Amino acid sequence: MHDKSQSNPLREGLSSKAVPQPCAIVIFGATGDLTHRKLVPALYNIAADGELPPAVAVIGFARRPKTDEEFRHEMEESTRKFSRQTVRDELWNKFADGLYYHQGDFSDEAGYKTLAERLAKLDEEGGTRGNRLFYFAAAPDQFETIIENLRKAGLNKAREGSWARVILEKPFGTDLASAKHLNRVVQKSFSENQTYRIDHFLGKETAQNILVLRFANAIFEPLWNGDHIDHVQITAAETLGVENRAGYYETAGALRDMVQNHMLQLLCLMAIEPPTDLGADSIRDEKVKVLRSIRRYQPDQVRRDTVRGQYIEGAIAGKEVSGYLAEKNVAPQSNTETYAALKLHVDNWRWSDVPFYIRVGKRLPKSGTEISVHFKNAPQVLFNRESVAVDQNVLVIRIQPDEGISLRMQAKVPGASFRIESVKMDFHYGTSFGKASPEAYERLLLDAMSGDATLFARCDEVEQAWSFIDTIREVWDEKKDAPQLVSYPAGSWGPEAADELMARDGRTWRRL
Ligand code: BG6
Repeated sequence: MHDKSQSNPLREGLSSKAVPQPCAIVIFGATGDLTHRKLVPALYNIAADGELPPAVAVIGFARRPKTDEEFRHEMEESTRKFSRQTVRDELWNKFADGLYYHQGDFSDEAGYKTLAERLAKLDEEGGTRGNRLFYFAAAPDQFETIIENLRKAGLNKAREGSWARVILEKPFGTDLASAKHLNRVVQKSFSENQTYRIDHFLGKETAQNILVLRFANAIFEPLWNGDHIDHVQITAAETLGVENRAGYYETAGALRDMVQNHMLQLLCLMAIEPPTDLGADSIRDEKVKVLRSIRRYQPDQVRRDTVRGQYIEGAIAGKEVSGYLAEKNVAPQSNTETYAALKLHVDNWRWSDVPFYIRVGKRLPKSGTEISVHFKNAPQVLFNRESVAVDQNVLVIRIQPDEGISLRMQAKVPGASFRIESVKMDFHYGTSFGKASPEAYERLLLDAMSGDATLFARCDEVEQAWSFIDTIREVWDEKKDAPQLVSYPAGSWGPEAADELMARDGRTWRRL
């Protein structure tokens, strides 16, 4: 069961040199949205970039009866629609030869037995070498059943010299107790180094670049602490509403959907100490320390330092959109938040007294994810002597779109007078490297095929993140004293209470 390739010494730096290996990828939930929009298009793009191992078989596992041909046809349609690169017929045909469909009920052991036989046959005929990657793209309440049945069919173990791994989609639990339970269930069948908990934000190019920015440049790290940094903002804004995902979203809300995972992961990358090396566990050890250092809220702090909002009807880019309560499958009195803002502290030496402000929201005027580091003001002497201080330096890491980094600094306006204005030094991935970044799922699938878990969450990371989120959720879910769910019109930058949260500290949210 031990996955020896986990500590592959070939990996060097953050550029994975571990080689993705031939394998069979079984996708549970093959007819779902994720498979259509992300997984199969990502695999096709990996193939188009010439990075797919020579023998890869993709087996869609789902309940509805379907032939291989029908499955290929469906996948072709969605890949043409969602692929990053234009689909080329010849390449598609070759790629589609490796797509298969396996009909089975998640709860019926028989389907796993026949799956095992089919995989053995593919090993022989297709060269997949006994390596298996099980991708859980099904509803989370099915995870336990699938894991259990994989074990009963002996599919959790690989033969000597091969490997078996599971990739688990989010949400990983809904609170600390359920995450712990799920970890225990997984660990009964798969060891930790066979387990890849996905957080697709970690696969985004600029998220990976945070560690390079911090630890491959000599100029930032000496300033990266409370002596020089005033505060940090992390924003994930989306113009999209809940779309057709209300079934899931109603049970999650913005806090569980975005903050527990993506936002806390970004915070970790910004806040970690330099790891001893770039191995998966060295980095994850440091992330866990950050998560443990996040100050847990007392109930009154939750009421003061967090904001929960829900969009009402409004307009985005001139187009009218309905409010959350009018979306399909949303309960008429729903209390689910579509916006969350919080102020938190990482209580360690580096970050003592530096607030981190996080905000996420749907139906905001613009889509964009960014982190901004606001440095302290220059001393109030010389140019800064006037009653109004010159602006702070701000380092902005744009996770998406237009991935890049910019630094705001002060410059003299040309001319005889001594006017000072803010200017921007700007790095754009697109123009500097002249090629589009791969999609997060491409990178993460390749890493899983290579046995590199660096960009996946470890069991203790997930649990620590939940233990923090639970302190908020408990107060938000209180019957009597829960902070009010405030509304904001679609197309606005969120509830006023979120601006007040900043204003209280004499700060404002950065305009995206
Ligand atoms: C998902 C959330 O994890 O991330 C969605 O469930 C959200 O609600 C999405 O829209 C945002 O990801 P991206 O990559 O589109 O920014």
